[in-house]
Amino acid sequence: MEFQSREQADNAKLVKAQSHIWNHIFNFINSMSLKCAVELGIPDVIHNYGKPMPLSQLVASLQIHPSKTSFVHRLMRILVHSNFFTTKDVPSNDLEIEIGYVLTDSSMLLLKDNPLSLSPLVAAMLDPIMIKPWNQMSTWFKNDDPTPFVTEYGTPFFDYASHVPKLNEIFNDAMASDARLVSKLLVDDKCKGVFEGLESLVDVGGGTGTVAKAIAKAFPQIECTVLDLPHVVADLERTGNLKYVGGDMFEAIPPSNAILLKWILHDWSDEECLKILRNCKEALRMSKGEGRKVIVIDMVVEDENSDHESLETQLFFDIMMMVGLKGKERNKEEWANLIFSAGFGNYKIIPILGLRSLIEIYP
Ligand SMILES: C[S@@+](CC[C@H](N)C(=O)[O-])C[C@H]1O[C@@H](n2cnc3c(N)ncnc32)[C@H](O)[C@@H]1O
Repeated sequence: MEFQSREQADNAKLVKAQSHIWNHIFNFINSMSLKCAVELGIPDVIHNYGKPMPLSQLVASLQIHPSKTSFVHRLMRILVHSNFFTTKDVPSNDLEIEIGYVLTDSSMLLLKDNPLSLSPLVAAMLDPIMIKPWNQMSTWFKNDDPTPFVTEYGTPFFDYASHVPKLNEIFNDAMASDARLVSKLLVDDKCKGVFEGLESLVDVGGGTGTVAKAIAKAFPQIECTVLDLPHVVADLERTGNLKYVGGDMFEAIPPSNAILLKWILHDWSDEECLKILRNCKEALRMSKGEGRKVIVIDMVVEDENSDHESLETQLFFDIMMMVGLKGKERNKEEWANLIFSAGFGNYKIIPILGLRSLIEIYP
């Protein structure tokens, strides 16, 4: 664009900067609009309609107060903009054309009946319990608390979750929803080789056992164990080749051919990760059988091939690990340092899980 004067060029820069700041101030509105849509069940209502759903039908199907009907199209407009829905023209009764809402791949993944639904992750991460510590970031930078979560609640995340049943429940449900999606990818042909030939596997910090269940089913010859904190596995019972152990991965890990660490190491500082990895090494050493390895599922950040949105999502996770826990997302060099410092001999990064990778670590 040609500017007639220096002043015009400066003014153009000024309003561009203003717009950039506005966008970042109000970025949370994307999250909150998404949360609202999930809570109102909008993806499910549109899915159940079975064809592009006109606004009037959507409004009639939602359980909302009559005084709010005229607001629905505004919520839908921003969700269409953020690509959670698209629109199609549909003929109306009076032969006019009206728009009908259609699901996208992203809103399909929010349907409550979809076995891979991520709506529990939306509910947990945007719950006020999880949001409050974000207000403490700058205070935390100025004090010596380990995390903004501790600044807000006075207790580290996993201790707090053991005392607040609602947090324990929504967090475990959120983890299980992610685990279902990852399990589908793991037992897929591309990943199957990772588990072939193993006799035993411990899923350390395996939550309520979603991934271990899928592995136990796909590989009946593998004796699977989930190790997690006692309050997480309290009511879970052995079935077939899958058992649960309440314990502390910083104390000891049961001997095993293979150890799975899915979304574990990014929760912890380098010092804490070294303790976990050394306990893994000891558990492998104590086991019988071939193909001993640790299987990590976590992000590898700063990949030069990442697009803007993928990198931003990884950076969101990195800051989330800083606010909630003492962890971080690691780049290739940081992974190599950690792995060799823990005394392992070699490793392989296999980038087959979207924004996360599968990292095999060998003794
Ligand atoms: C981010 S979640 C990951 C859960 C599961 N691996 C997944 O990806 O779905 C971290 C898990 O580590 C467990 N955990 C935290 N501290 C632990 C400890 N000291 N020993 C064993 N498990 C622990 C938590 O209870 C939680 O289930």
